[in-house]
Amino acid sequence: MEKLLRIAIDGPSGAGKSTMAKILAKDLNIDYIDTGAMYRAIALKIFRTGIDPNNAEDLAKLLKETDVDYSKGSVFLDGENVDGFIRTQEVSEMASVSSAIPAVREKLVALQKAMGERKSLVMDGRDIGTNVLTGAECKFFLTASAHVRALRRAKEYEEKGLPCNVEQVEADIQTRDYRDSHRATNPLKQADDAVLIDSSDMTIGEVVDEMKKYIQKV
Ligand code: DC
Repeated sequence: MEKLLRIAIDGPSGAGKSTMAKILAKDLNIDYIDTGAMYRAIALKIFRTGIDPNNAEDLAKLLKETDVDYSKGSVFLDGENVDGFIRTQEVSEMASVSSAIPAVREKLVALQKAMGERKSLVMDGRDIGTNVLTGAECKFFLTASAHVRALRRAKEYEEKGLPCNVEQVEADIQTRDYRDSHRATNPLKQADDAVLIDSSDMTIGEVVDEMKKYIQKV
């Protein structure tokens, strides 16, 4: 049987996880799964239907009737490609809240575990090394200072011609970091066997090279 190569990349938002994951997936010719996009798709559905995510009964019904999939670089909500709707401020905020709810995590973690069962892939998120792919052949915890992450995000806004206040972006990042790392279920945490990379003073190329050094040893 062919040897599996499953790479888990966890870390706070804006650390560059998806940038690195996409490059590695392309270079290694394996699939990329953006688990954050799956949480965002559920948040979009909550937003669209207008239910209160804290109403357990309504949420259970919604989750039962909802189909989420990630394939070929796109996220699908009930069969619809929703890539264009999941990066808004409202959906980011809702995803941060709804991803802390155990019923939401239970559904998506089961799907993500199944995806990593038989295939080589790169998966990025918050709990991949600690919970989803605990047996991953290679685990990274990618981080950067909140200030550097805010500057990177601000640059993205600027490139899109959107107005942005760096202090506000940094404050939002800190709020979300806190929520992601302090929730009761599967909080953001470095796995004991994950390699820590702080990308604050590194270029994209340097981070990729550093990761490949470890991947080659697998
Ligand atoms: O990585 P992102 O910003 O697209 O993630 C969106 C939200 O989902 C964010 O609040 C963190 C949460 N998330 C999570 O709880 N677990 C994951 N494996 C991936 C994302």
